[in-house]
Amino acid sequence: MKHPSLVLLTLLAFLSPVAARAAEDARPVYRDPAAPLEARVEDLLGRLTLEEKVSLLHGDSKFTTAGVPRLGIPVRHLTDGPNGVREEIERDTFKAAGRTDDFSTAMPTGIALAATWDPELAFLEGATIATEARARGKDIVLGPGVNIMRSPLCGRNFEYLGEDPFLAGRIAVGFIGGEQSGGIASSVKHFAVNNQETLRNSINVEMDERTLREIYLPAFHAAVTEAGVWTVMGAYNKFRGEHCCHNDYLLNQVLKQEWGFKGLVMSDWNGTHDTAQAARHGLDLEMGTEKRAYADWFLAGPYREGLARGEFPLAGLDDKVRRNLRVLIATGGLDGRAPGAINTKAHQLVARRVAEEAIVLLKNTGGLLPLDATKLRTIAVIGENATRPQAHGGQSSEVKPLYEVTPLQGIIRRVGRTVNVIHALGYEAPNSDRLSTRPQKPDAPLSADELAERAVAAARAADAVVFVGGLNHEQGNDCEGDDRTELALPYGQDALLERIVAANPRTVVVLVSGSPVSMGAWLPRTPAVLQAWFGGMEAGNAVARVLFGDVNPSGKLPCTFPRQLADSPAHALGAWPGKDGTVTYTEGLLVGYRWFDTKAIEPLFPFGHGLSYTSFAYRGARVVPGTDAKGPLATVEVEVTNTGARAGAEVVQLYVRDVEASLPRPAQELKAFRKVQLQPGERRVVTLPLGREAFSFYDPARRAWVAEPGKFVLAVGSSSRDLRAQLEFTLP
Ligand code: BGC
Repeated sequence: MKHPSLVLLTLLAFLSPVAARAAEDARPVYRDPAAPLEARVEDLLGRLTLEEKVSLLHGDSKFTTAGVPRLGIPVRHLTDGPNGVREEIERDTFKAAGRTDDFSTAMPTGIALAATWDPELAFLEGATIATEARARGKDIVLGPGVNIMRSPLCGRNFEYLGEDPFLAGRIAVGFIGGEQSGGIASSVKHFAVNNQETLRNSINVEMDERTLREIYLPAFHAAVTEAGVWTVMGAYNKFRGEHCCHNDYLLNQVLKQEWGFKGLVMSDWNGTHDTAQAARHGLDLEMGTEKRAYADWFLAGPYREGLARGEFPLAGLDDKVRRNLRVLIATGGLDGRAPGAINTKAHQLVARRVAEEAIVLLKNTGGLLPLDATKLRTIAVIGENATRPQAHGGQSSEVKPLYEVTPLQGIIRRVGRTVNVIHALGYEAPNSDRLSTRPQKPDAPLSADELAERAVAAARAADAVVFVGGLNHEQGNDCEGDDRTELALPYGQDALLERIVAANPRTVVVLVSGSPVSMGAWLPRTPAVLQAWFGGMEAGNAVARVLFGDVNPSGKLPCTFPRQLADSPAHALGAWPGKDGTVTYTEGLLVGYRWFDTKAIEPLFPFGHGLSYTSFAYRGARVVPGTDAKGPLATVEVEVTNTGARAGAEVVQLYVRDVEASLPRPAQELKAFRKVQLQPGERRVVTLPLGREAFSFYDPARRAWVAEPGKFVLAVGSSSRDLRAQLEFTLP
């Protein structure tokens, strides 16, 4: 059926000008794109029956809500997810619909985006996903996921934005800004404190108020107050005893009252548990409930009956409906959107750029990287992740890409005409036979010993080895629904790698994973290590372009890599994954580098770390106190010079240490950063402004953020442990 407004326009075209004007005047306010948003919302609200209102507050399939055809309210289409538009599934189940028109661009996953430290690139990715979402007829895209990495083991770390609230906030704001500029509503998730998969539907999370405010809420706060995100998805877990999808404190008091959120709160899929709480505690849209009849959902029949009995106020109903209508109208749902585009070359290039900028050069002793293809005759590419497609895995952040370039394919494309590339699996994950789309599987099935033997022989025969291992999206790895149980690489990779580097010291290890892993005895003897994350459909090209120096790596770790699990705060304190249904965050504020730095524990690779094929010198760092009451309180300026022979990008990081605080504070906290591209020899003064929030902590006694006058140290550098200048600053 034609959209009603199209019908109206067609009619208008045939009327005389006077009649046309009369018809236009008769057009209801809610249909007038020029009318103010709130006027349109109120007008439409006033036309809805109680039945129709309730029908807008819950799903009528896995990913849609019912329309109201009488008033031209369309069906709303929701979709996962954070790194591309997910494939279509059946109406009432999560089974793939088996279509061929639902391929889309698979971007690298969230942790990779965070590793770019580039909010503008996040904007571009968001805008690109919005264009694809429009092409697929979607209204709301479920992402970004901004839950803080509390443990390296969380199964969904790969989808989220790392361990630091400030970095996560900057990336989320960029991403949402881009996506919503494309007429699509984002859904920042999962609100809140959803930091483990173990018992995720029932676990009760406890922590002090300051930790909540300083660590777990800031990325959401930035999404709401800076990016104006239109929807927020509740979390599965409980917080202080109440499920997060209808948690009065989080949703009504913090999100809506304190932060002034005007959009809608939706539940996570099957995260609603109670009609009275859903009615009163801030839920506006119930999704994914596993009850056969949609009419039986908590915010469907039972809510309507409660309203009829006078148990729930009608004002509460209207508030929910208003929020749903506001999002619908604000994102063009009644007016029509620009057409979209999908699977374009330009979109694939965005995916590749993000993948390239995300890759972190962890180690490069002796300058083994970049590899010089003209000096190599044979390369051995070893490891299961060299040939394993990843984009279509991990559950709600999976995407069905039109193609996926694996690392082996990327390497062959790059050097295969002149270099002999031999491939050996080396090891194999159980169940990997399910990977029917797998392009190459040359030497299986073999026993684990035979696989290892062949790999070692290949390493010995080659001029250089590229080992592509790490984790994958199998359950229990980097995958929704479960957490990992250990930090070590799975499938015997540590032992295999020891043999490989012994056979060929010119070995580069490429880790494909979305979480930190420990590295075995092979690390000291391995000259070069790249952290490649899950790089989306262009992952293999990105890896090859970094390996052979077409791209100079510029990613930085958005999370600490611990030496061992026991060094990591929640594990050191035995506070993972909880006891008797509750997990208490006893490490408090000391998450990630805040713990390692405060407790002086040496990490394997620190937060913010990432090398380059060039080098950067920092000079003349100084702090300029703010003068204007509205401007920053202080600005750090530092001259950064590319002192090497290649163009490259550096992420200049600024950490703030509060020297005299009335409450204990972490040793240092990231409060500003900037990624700069520099040609060889080029220098640039980088300015890092610090507002009041950069000096503030949350004072639970005053229930407010406080910037205490006194001494601070402002440390600027290339990582949290590679600080090039420490400046004193006194806050007046
Ligand atoms: C996940 C969400 C996702 C939803 C819909 C849930 O299991 O937690 O992140 O958006 O499913 O697929």
